[in-house]
Amino acid sequence: TASHGHGPFIAAIDQGTTSSRCIVFDKDGRIVSVDQKEHEQIFPKPGWVEHNATEIWTNVQEVVAGALDKAGITPADVKAIGITNQRETTLMWDKATGEPVHNAIVWQDTRTDALCKELGRNVGQDRFRRETGLPLASYFSGPKVRWLLDNVEGLRERAERGEILFGTMDSWVIWNLTGGVDGGVHVTDVTNASRTLLMNLHGLHWDEKILSSLEIPAAVLPEIRSSAEVYGLAKGGVLDGIPVASALGDQQAALFGQTCFSEGEAKSTYGTGTFMLMNTGGTPVNSYNGLLTTVGYRIGDQDPVYALEGSIAVTGSLVQWMRDQMGLIKSAAEIETLALSVEDNGGAYFVPAFSGLFAPYWRSDARGVIAGLTRYVTKAHIARAVLEATAWQTREITDAMTKDSGVELAALKVDGGMTSNNLLMQTLSDVLDAPVVRPMVAETTCLGAAYAAGLAVGFWPDTDALRANWRRAAEWTPRMDADVREREYKNWLKAVQRTMSWID
Ligand code: G3P
Repeated sequence: TASHGHGPFIAAIDQGTTSSRCIVFDKDGRIVSVDQKEHEQIFPKPGWVEHNATEIWTNVQEVVAGALDKAGITPADVKAIGITNQRETTLMWDKATGEPVHNAIVWQDTRTDALCKELGRNVGQDRFRRETGLPLASYFSGPKVRWLLDNVEGLRERAERGEILFGTMDSWVIWNLTGGVDGGVHVTDVTNASRTLLMNLHGLHWDEKILSSLEIPAAVLPEIRSSAEVYGLAKGGVLDGIPVASALGDQQAALFGQTCFSEGEAKSTYGTGTFMLMNTGGTPVNSYNGLLTTVGYRIGDQDPVYALEGSIAVTGSLVQWMRDQMGLIKSAAEIETLALSVEDNGGAYFVPAFSGLFAPYWRSDARGVIAGLTRYVTKAHIARAVLEATAWQTREITDAMTKDSGVELAALKVDGGMTSNNLLMQTLSDVLDAPVVRPMVAETTCLGAAYAAGLAVGFWPDTDALRANWRRAAEWTPRMDADVREREYKNWLKAVQRTMSWID
C-alpha cells in the first residue's frame, strides 16, 4: 500500500529451490512487500530431481509484478534489481528460441554419481580441489552439464556449433530479464561460477584443463562477472529499463545480507538445505576437514572475498518430505507441535542422506536411515529426530569450521525459513553449546541481493552503511547437560555410519 511512503526502493528476486520470490526493500533495509510462488518438484527416478525452467521464468515474472503491486509503487521508484538463486542447478537452452533443451537438473540430483566416481578414478575425489576448492561430487554443475551433453540427443553437436547456452539459475533469469532471444546478456557472477567445478578459484576464470577433462565446449559458458555491477537493463515486462545490478548464489547472498563483511564472521541459513559460510577475507583457505572453499562475493572491481562453506543437503526438505511424501503432518509448522508432544527422541535418530551426504563426508553413495527403532517410538519421536537431524548436521559442520579456521564458535548467526521453529533453534543452541542469534530481517538472502544491487548503483554508499541496518531480534542460549549432549552426539554419529556405501 502507499503507506510505505516514497521510494526509492530496490527489488530483489530470489529464485530458490522450492519457490521464487520477489521482495521490495527500502533504504533502511526494511521489507516493503513480498510475493512468492512455488514450482513443481519433479522426481523422475530415485535420486533424480528436476525443475521446469519455463515454469520458473513465468513464476519470476509473476512475483515481480505481484511484489510491486503489493507495495503500491511504480517501477520508476525501483532503482535496481538484484538476483539471487539456488546454486548449482543446471540448465541448457537454445540461444535462438530461448527453449530449454531439458528440465533443469537440480543441485540435489545424484544422477552424476557414477560419472564423478569415474572422473576421480586413480586420482581421488580431490582431483580438482586445488583449482576449484571443491571435491568431485554430484552436487556441482560441471558433471550435470556433461550429463546433458551425453544424454540429450544431438546436444553436443549443437553446443559445439555455438547454438546452446549453459547457465545456473542466475544466468537464466538475467538472460530472460534483459531481453532473452532479443539481446539477453549471458553472464554469471563469481559466486555462482565458483559452484560449477569449472572455475579456477584463484584467477576467477573458466579452467581450460577441467573443461577438457569434462569435455565441455567453452562456447556454452556465460561470462563471469562480479557480484555487484550493472549487467544490463531489463527489457520488456514491468521492470523495463531498470538496471539488473547484482547476482549472488543464495548462500553467499545470505552472508552479504547478514553483513558478514569481516574475516571470521559466519552465518548459517536454514532452508531446503542448510549452508554455513565463514568469511575468510582475501585468501581462499583450503579445507582439510570436508568443507568447501568458495567465493563469498566480489563488489565491482574490488578484490574478491572468499569463504569456507559447510553444506548440508537436507534439512527443511526433510520436513517437506514428512508432509508430502509420508503424510505425517499437514503443514511444515506442525512438525514443532508434534515434536513438543514428547520429551525426547525415544531413542530414534534420522539421518536424511537423501542426496548422499554432503559436508563433511561427501559420500554420494549414502542413503537415508532411521536408526534405533523400537515399538515404543511414535511419529512424535520421529518428528523430534527430524529436528535433531538439522541440529546435529550443523554441529558436524561447526566442528569442521573450528578445525579448519582455528576459531572457536562464539555465537551462530542464523536465518532462513526454519528459524521460526523455536524448538529447533533451542535444540541447535543445545547441541552447539553456543548462543544462536537471529536478525530482525530473517530474509537475508533477498536482502543480500538487494544490498549488492544497491551498492552497484550508489543507492547505499558502502558496506558500513549496510552494517548499521543489522539488528538482533532473538537469541537462544544452551540449556542441555554436557553428558546428555555427548551421549546424543555419539548416537548420532553411529547412525551416520549406517548410511554409508548403500549404493555400490
Ligand atoms: O547449494 C544449494 C543452495 O543454494 C540451495 O539453497 O535455499 O534454495 O535450498 P535453497
